[in-house]
Amino acid sequence: MRRIPRRRKNVNLVEKVKSAVDLSQYKGVGKVVLAYSGGLDTSIMVGLLQEVLGAEVVTLTLDFGQTEYAGSDLNLMKKKALSLGAAAHKFFDVKDEFFSGYIAKAVKANSLYQGEYPNSTALGRPLIAKYLVAVAEHEGADAVAHGSTGKGNDQVRFDLSVAALNPDLKVIAPVRDWELKRDEEIAWAAESGIPVPMGASKYSVDANMWGRSSECGVLEDPAAEPPEDVFQWITPPEKAPDSPLGVKLWFEKGIPSALEFDGVKITGGVNIVTTLNELAGKNGVGMIDHMEDRVVGLKSREVYECPAATVILKAHKDLEKYVFTKEENGFKPVIDKLWSECVYGGLWYHPLMKELGAFVDASQEKVSGWVSLKLYKGTAQVLARNSPHALYDMNLASYNVGSRFNQKDALGFIKLYGLNTVMAGKIAKAAQMAVKA
Ligand code: ARG
Repeated sequence: MRRIPRRRKNVNLVEKVKSAVDLSQYKGVGKVVLAYSGGLDTSIMVGLLQEVLGAEVVTLTLDFGQTEYAGSDLNLMKKKALSLGAAAHKFFDVKDEFFSGYIAKAVKANSLYQGEYPNSTALGRPLIAKYLVAVAEHEGADAVAHGSTGKGNDQVRFDLSVAALNPDLKVIAPVRDWELKRDEEIAWAAESGIPVPMGASKYSVDANMWGRSSECGVLEDPAAEPPEDVFQWITPPEKAPDSPLGVKLWFEKGIPSALEFDGVKITGGVNIVTTLNELAGKNGVGMIDHMEDRVVGLKSREVYECPAATVILKAHKDLEKYVFTKEENGFKPVIDKLWSECVYGGLWYHPLMKELGAFVDASQEKVSGWVSLKLYKGTAQVLARNSPHALYDMNLASYNVGSRFNQKDALGFIKLYGLNTVMAGKIAKAAQMAVKA
């Protein structure tokens, strides 16, 4: 086992945990796989898990296409994890898997929790859990660990997903289980020489290519406007370019398949999403600030940056409306809502997800075509759309000469369609007369 690095200065946090927590529950835990983002919580956890449990820690980082992880940062992250005392650092590029297995499904289900949040963080968690379990099984670890608090949704998502995939693995969430406080963590990191990312003391951030979320600090006051430095992906609309950018998005059975802008056409899901994050972000599109109802019952103020998701979901919805019948347009949102609530609530591995997914997939057979939009100072406006499966017939809808729609048919239709309304009107009138008489 790797030697635990000695800390010269204050070790209060370790002592605090050792004296406050019943460590017998971790008996037999010799190796832990930690979901490591390089942020404040997970950085201090490498040493803490070792020192408190005397266990070997393997760190795991996934590249979800978040700009924060771009380029050489990943090597730095490995170096940092090892310097903090990790026995090994595992890294996987999951961008394609995240797009095809998670984002694509979310697009098909128009996933917006409470009508606003594209479920970006929520979609990433079950994939992290899948890798935590796979690495733990491969490494012969007895437990996995994550940096979630006891107040959020992520603990629910991690714990449930890991338990669904391998119930024998112990799940440790030190911030929750050992009651670590953010200010204590910051102080301990400073005293122990643990480098934490700039701004870590200001906000708690989570990001993947479907969106970036910021919590904590001044954001905890819903009556206060979010400071400008919260937004790292999106230019404030008032500072965005003065001329609009036109984009055209193609869908193949509900999944984004190509993107055209400035005369360039690109393909590939990851490429489309990351490019759109840049294009829409530059034009101020995708800021979301809403009051969210968490799984654990708390209401919280959430600030998101979701440029690509905002544009893609808007275009997809428009295309659906164009190819669906009125009844499909009325019913699918019911399924979409349930799907989104399950994802938000950590039920990715619940059997209902597969069943809802089967309906969603069946509905997407005809959701192919393109939608063009204008990105301009914070808005994404649909300009036009086209699909070989459109239920729209210009010949029928046109008010010009030559339409095949027989307007006289409307008379008989209105009589039958309005039977209830007319009957109710008659009765109401008779009742009124009776009162007067
Ligand atoms: N409220 C969001 C969710 O539950 C985002 C949570 C992300 N965590 C963070 N530290 N910013 O999906």
